[in-house]
Amino acid sequence: MPFEWLSVLALAAAAVGAQTFQPLRLAGVNIPGFDFGCGTDGTCNITQACPPLTQLGCADGLGQMQHFVKDDGYNVFRLPVGWQYLTYNRMTGALNETQFANYNMLVNACLTTGAYCEIDIHNYARYDGQIIGQGGPNNEIFAELWSNIANYWKNESRVIFGLMNEPHDIPDISIWAGSVQAAVTAIRLTGANSQIILLPGNNYTSAEAFTSSGSADVLNKVKNPDGTITNLVMDVHKYLDYDNSGTHAACVTNNIESSWYPLSTWLRENGRQALNTETGGGDVDSCVGYLAQQIGYQAANSDVILGYIGWAAGSLATDYILSETPYYNGTGWNDTLTVSMALSPMTNMLVCSVV
Ligand SMILES: *[C@@H]1O[C@H](CO)[C@@H](O)[C@H](O)[C@H]1NC(C)=O
Ligand SMILES: *[C@@H]1O[C@H](CO)[C@@H](O)[C@H](O)[C@H]1NC(C)=O
Ligand SMILES: *[C@@H]1O[C@H](CO)[C@@H](O)[C@H](O)[C@H]1NC(C)=O
Ligand SMILES: *[C@@H]1O[C@H](CO)[C@@H](O)[C@H](O)[C@H]1NC(C)=O
Ligand SMILES: *[C@@H]1O[C@H](CO)[C@@H](O)[C@H](O)[C@H]1NC(C)=O
Ligand SMILES: *[C@@H]1O[C@H](CO)[C@@H](O)[C@H](O)[C@H]1NC(C)=O
Repeated sequence: MPFEWLSVLALAAAAVGAQTFQPLRLAGVNIPGFDFGCGTDGTCNITQACPPLTQLGCADGLGQMQHFVKDDGYNVFRLPVGWQYLTYNRMTGALNETQFANYNMLVNACLTTGAYCEIDIHNYARYDGQIIGQGGPNNEIFAELWSNIANYWKNESRVIFGLMNEPHDIPDISIWAGSVQAAVTAIRLTGANSQIILLPGNNYTSAEAFTSSGSADVLNKVKNPDGTITNLVMDVHKYLDYDNSGTHAACVTNNIESSWYPLSTWLRENGRQALNTETGGGDVDSCVGYLAQQIGYQAANSDVILGYIGWAAGSLATDYILSETPYYNGTGWNDTLTVSMALSPMTNMLVCSVV
């Protein structure tokens, strides 16, 4: 362990060089529930959606987010939703008014806390088993979906557009980049020019596979309509369990050598940035230690890594294996072990909201 710490510090020092330390810009928590019932094949049984809003029947997402901002210093929340939820089970880009209004209650709740709020379409690059632009909904449909969402939120600078959660097993990654480009163009053409758009690669947006899978090269060609790459940020996930699945309580790695070092190097060489929109571990000491190391390294590379968003709170039960759902005891909110000991900006003091 002491040896590992030394190499961590050496890598961090090499990355930072003589520059002044800058904290991470963003840190937050996923607030799922509108995505419940969605599978990795892009099907969503929307009767299983469990909106994390007390007025819609599930968790007190507003209370959670207020607590996370006030007591922990978080400044971003990711708000997953199924495509089918928003269109009421139609394979279209046209939003169902009632359904979109329900989801927007969560976006608005998030915005009232003062945080950034990521709209995350949680469909694995698919609709009902079929891949966008490669047998499933065509790029025009995907672009229309995002155009409609962005048209509603175009004046809100604190909304982040997360184009798609965890694409995987994409037959042609170049064609996928074309689908991503179609959505980016559609968003910008609404006038939503100032917001961050997150670009997702293959392999469940694995930070480790980002370059080797070819995702980096093709996503690097996606541009705003004016030819710039301003606020086009790479979307990456990484868990700390042995198979990077986020389904085991124990953590076995800080991911620095396998993922964050090579990713940071690529980002810097290519003038790009990334946001780690899913990470986390069980409420065990191994995760507290490794998460702290991972966040420390991300902060040492804050010129290219914007921050991290833990998975997850919202409507997930407090005994879910990777739960970051705080417990309301009647007078206050108690955080889970990984949040209170590693992820909370108030604890690690590595995020701009608290330093
Ligand atoms: C959708 O979920 C509901 C509630 O769990 C279940 O009763 C129903 O059978 C499911 N529908 C399909 C098509 O799986
Ligand atoms: C929109 O969704 C609601 C359920 O929230 C449903 O009752 C209504 O029929 C849908 N409207 C259309 C036009 O599909
Ligand atoms: C956005 O702002 C523009 C200019 O202030 C205004 O004309 C438009 O109505 C606004 N749109 C929305 C959806 O709020
Ligand atoms: C990425 O996923 C593809 C399947 O789409 C697979 O063939 C490839 O081995 C994966 N790459 C890595 C580095 O995991
Ligand atoms: C409830 O939670 C708050 C915040 O963590 C804590 O200060 C307080 O002691 C707890 N009260 C009880 C009765 O557990
Ligand atoms: C809340 O946290 C406080 C302080 O750590 C602890 O004393 C209390 O038992 C916790 N309550 C619950 C219900 O988790």
